[in-house]
Parts: sequence; structure tokens; C-alpha cells
Amino acid sequence: MSPVKKDSTLIFERSTPGRRAHGLPELDVPEVPLSTLLPTGMVRGTPPALPEVSELDVVRHYTHLSHRNFSIDEGFYPLGSCTMKYNPKLHEEVARLSGFARLHPYAPDDLAQGALRLLWELGEELSEISGMDTVTFQPAAGAHGEMTGLLLIRAYFEARGEHQRTSIIVPDSAHGTNPATAAMVGYKVLTVRTDPRGNVDLQQLKSLMDDTVAGVMLTNPNTLGLFEEQIDEVSEIIHRYGGQMYMDGANFNAILGVTRPGDQGFDVMHYNLHKTFTTPHGGGGPGAGAVGIKQHLAPYLPTPVVSHADGRYFLDYDRPQSIGKVKAFWGNFGNLVRAYAYVRTLGAEGVRNVAEYAVLHANYVRARLKDTYNVKYDRICKHEFVADGTRQKARNGVTTRDIAKRVLDYGFHAPTVYFPLIVEESIMIEPTETESLDTLEEFIAAMIAIDKEAAENPELVKTAPHTTVVRRLDEVRAARQPDLRWQADR
Ligand SMILES: Cc1ncc(COP(=O)(O)O)c(C=O)c1O
Repeated sequence: MSPVKKDSTLIFERSTPGRRAHGLPELDVPEVPLSTLLPTGMVRGTPPALPEVSELDVVRHYTHLSHRNFSIDEGFYPLGSCTMKYNPKLHEEVARLSGFARLHPYAPDDLAQGALRLLWELGEELSEISGMDTVTFQPAAGAHGEMTGLLLIRAYFEARGEHQRTSIIVPDSAHGTNPATAAMVGYKVLTVRTDPRGNVDLQQLKSLMDDTVAGVMLTNPNTLGLFEEQIDEVSEIIHRYGGQMYMDGANFNAILGVTRPGDQGFDVMHYNLHKTFTTPHGGGGPGAGAVGIKQHLAPYLPTPVVSHADGRYFLDYDRPQSIGKVKAFWGNFGNLVRAYAYVRTLGAEGVRNVAEYAVLHANYVRARLKDTYNVKYDRICKHEFVADGTRQKARNGVTTRDIAKRVLDYGFHAPTVYFPLIVEESIMIEPTETESLDTLEEFIAAMIAIDKEAAENPELVKTAPHTTVVRRLDEVRAARQPDLRWQADR
């Protein structure tokens, strides 16, 4: 319904004078002029410029817009590092149960026993799966979980009088939120490079470590989709100097039920419940970045902490060393209900199957594509792998961006591109466990076809997409100055 200006009057594409989406009964009380109710300066002289539309016009308009979007319910979404798996519809039903959805966040504990029990039990489940001791559900996203985790580490060292710990080590393969979070919490960031096999460079890690370092932030498997083969040594080095191990759990899907971060030496981790535990995400939220910790960090947890005693669940605010609240109320509770439903329906065996199929699918696609697209770190991967477009670029200038745009013409969401930064022209593919072999085959065929097009008809790929509603956008402007709202004066 974007407006156009004609003779200085606003005209909407869909607007008919006098058309309305509502009908009200005749006024049967005396009409009171607005000027008697509001201060004069607040009463507008002319009515607002709004489209005049029927209810059906409005429904069609928004339905039409929704069809321009792409979602996991519509097609394959191999967006590396984002775990765009299917979100079972049962979880939506459970999250909408009125006892959960309509519960007031200030309801007294006695009236919220079911919801508190759900939080308690979800905490127990996540602790069991990850090898942690306790979980807080307040953070609203992975990056928010990172911040909470580092604040816990900082509070721990402050309580111990170790004020000299002023830096955090972060690998060069890390997601941008890791160094950004460390800097926001006030740490200096020390970068450790990746070795030729795709692991953290152990020698450099040793040389960086001393008692001024608060710890390391690692993603395992890392953002190359590779398991840190020397994780025990890393943990030993960090702990030998009294540092803390932070795990970015965005890639937890790869190891669910197989190995536990808590057993690998991590002291604190965040879970992207909106990735691993099937709560719908994308478009900026809502997320749930729960944080799991080892017991020594428990005194500093954000308040309130869900507790259990004498058969009763309650919110514990009496935590004098707490870092305080990091989000209002209990976190994004609806997402926690969905995550709970997921874990409970899968059970222990199902949770392990998730990781096994996610890893199998990623390795299958990697093995089928590696003769066509370069794979810099070519070894068995976990839930995702990083190919790249260097061959295509060297051949006749078709870039990874062009390939990603052409993928859209084949009806798929594009993979993640140009991340991680250490792989030139990177194409990060994460198929997830929920896709069928047929879908994987269709995607593989599309990627091979695009390579052929790039060789035989490069212009076709360089000018893609050809079938989408909008073509190439100014992505930087779209991110920095998003145009989200219609404004009359533009
Ligand atoms: C490896 C990694 N770490 C951290 C994050 C941040 O998570 P969130 O987007 O929930 O803030 C992401 C998100 O894409 C990620 O892929």
C-alpha cells in the first residue's frame, strides 16, 4: 500500500474513498468535541492520511506480503551457522496452552507451579545433555547469552580478587558476536589463529596464555563445522593458568547426546534454543540464549533463579552475589515451552539421532560437492561444512555472492556466505537433520548446475536472481537503514 503523490495529495495503491473495514452502530450518546477532552495543541487539524480499505483488502495485502518471504516451511534453508531445521507444529500448540501463554509474569509462585516446573525440568534436561550443573533462561539470544556468560566469569574473578585478568582469547574463525561481546564486557580481545587442519593453533594459544587472561571463547564444533581435535589440551592450558572456558553453543546441534561440553572442560556455555531446540527464528527473533554453568559460577547467576524445595518450585531472588537481571521476567518463556516440548518428545535416543543425522547430511552434501566447489579444510565435518567459490571466481569472475543469488532461482534459501572470514569466498552449508535425501539431492543438483552455468554462461549467474520479486538489493543500506515503516512525508 505504498502511497504516491498526485497533485500534492497522497494516493494509495489500494484505497477507495469511503471504504471501511469496520461498521459501528449509530452514536447514541451526546458527541463531545475532542478539544474539550485534549489540550488544544494536541488535537490535529486534518485527519491522518490513511488508506481507506475493507477488511478483505487488508487480509489480502498482508497475505500477499507474507508470500514474498522465504521460510523453512516453504523450502530448504541451508544457512550455515543458523540451524534452520523444521519447527514441529505441535510445539506451537503447546506454547499456546493458556496456562503458559496467559500466565501473568508477576503471578505468585503458588499460581505458577506448572510453568516453574517446566523451567526447572528444562534446566535439568539441558544440564544433562551438556554436562553443566545449572541453567539460566533469561538471555534472549545467543549474543545475549555470551554477554551473560562473560559477566559471570568477570564476577567470579572479581570475587576472587583476580582483577588483573583483563583479556579474553577468541579464535580468528569465531562468529563476530564473540569478540564484540568480550569488548562490550570490557575485555581486551586476543586473537588466536586457526591451524592448517582447522583447529585452534595450540602453540599460539600457549604463547598468549598467562594470568592476565580471563579465558577463551570457543565454538565446538567451530565455525568451519570441524570438531576441535585438541579440546582436552586447550582446556588443560586454559585451566592451568586459572582461566575459564566459554563455549559458544550455537553449533550444539552437531554433538547432542554424543559428547558434552561440560566433559570437555567448558565452565560456561550458551545454548541457542532458537537453533538447536526448534524454536522458530529468523528476522531478528524472538530468541532464547539460555546459559549453562558449572557450580562455581552459580552464586553470580542472574536473578531470579528457579529453585525447588519440599515439592514446591519458586523464584529465588535472594542471591547477594548475582550479576542482577539481564532481561525482564523469566526470559522468552514461549520459546522455553517449545524447547521443553522438543526435548520431551525426542527423549535421549531421539536427541542423539538429531546430531547423528545432522552430521550425516552435512558429510553427504560435502562429499557430493567437493569435486565441484573447493573445500579448504577437507576432513570429516560435523553438522555443516565450508566450501568456497574460489574456483568459479578464478575461472571467469563468478563470485560467491553471484552463486548465492543464483541459488534463489532454484527455489532454495542461500547458504551463509563470506563467513567465516578465514575462508576466501566462503559458502557455509548446514543441511540440518530434518531434510530428506530427495531435498539434499535437489540442492546438490542445483549447486552443480550453477557451477556449469558459471562456466558456460557466467552472465546468467552474475545477474541472478531472475525469478524473485526483488533483484539485487543494497544489502548494506538495508541493514544499516532498514525501511520498516511507511512514512507520509517521504
Ligand atoms: C557461531 C555463532 N555464535 C553466536 C551467534 C549469535 O547468536 P544469536 O544470533 O542468537 O545472537 C551465532 C548466530 O548466528 C552463531 O552462528
